Amino acid sequence: MKVILIAAHDPNLVIGNDGELPWHYSEDLKFFKRQTLGHPIVMGRIVFEELNEKPLPGRENIVLSKSKSYDHVKSFKSIDNALEYLVDREKVFIIGGGEIYRQTIDRADELIITEIKDEFKGDTFFPEYRDQIGSTWKEYWREEHNEFDFVKLKKV
Ligand SMILES: NC(=O)c1ccc[n+]([C@@H]2O[C@H](COP(=O)([O-])OP(=O)(O)OC[C@H]3O[C@@H](n4cnc5c(N)ncnc54)[C@H](OP(=O)(O)O)[C@@H]3O)[C@@H](O)[C@H]2O)c1
Repeated sequence: MKVILIAAHDPNLVIGNDGELPWHYSEDLKFFKRQTLGHPIVMGRIVFEELNEKPLPGRENIVLSKSKSYDHVKSFKSIDNALEYLVDREKVFIIGGGEIYRQTIDRADELIITEIKDEFKGDTFFPEYRDQIGSTWKEYWREEHNEFDFVKLKKV
């Protein structure tokens, strides 16, 4: 099982504001869909509520919550239990939010990052990893666009 964190952040690592994405880039949403389609996605309860508790199609949706469980999606009360359940899968995408990224970045094999170029106001952040590029993380793929770059990094 390869654990992949997929996130979009601004130059200050902002990923969210007031329970929402601070930006809307349709190309980024399409990129996210292309990367994750057919694979399980793991998210925190706040992200699932942001989706109005509607699972994203074409992917097994896994929700992490200690306080809630759902009839229509699988949920786990711990990250260990969720990853144990998914252990036979080829790839598992961790799709946020901040709390979940923070608790999973140490066990991630890969990061798929949209580097947003503009700065946004935010209250939720991706964990700092850029100081570890060259030691823990190696960038192996980059696609440049006007407003953002798509970047893939592997744990070395
Ligand atoms: N830019 C991006 O790529 C991106 C991606 C995703 C999200 N976001 C943004 O991030 C923000 C949401 O992030 P967030 O940090 O507030 O919330 P979150 O990570 O989505 O969810 C936090 C919740 O997850 C559950 N949880 C956390 N750790 C857990 C554990 N170890 N085991 C079981 N459950 C656990 C808890 O739910 P209970 O309280 O129910 O126990 C906790 O309240 C939003 O603004 C969203 O737009 C941005």
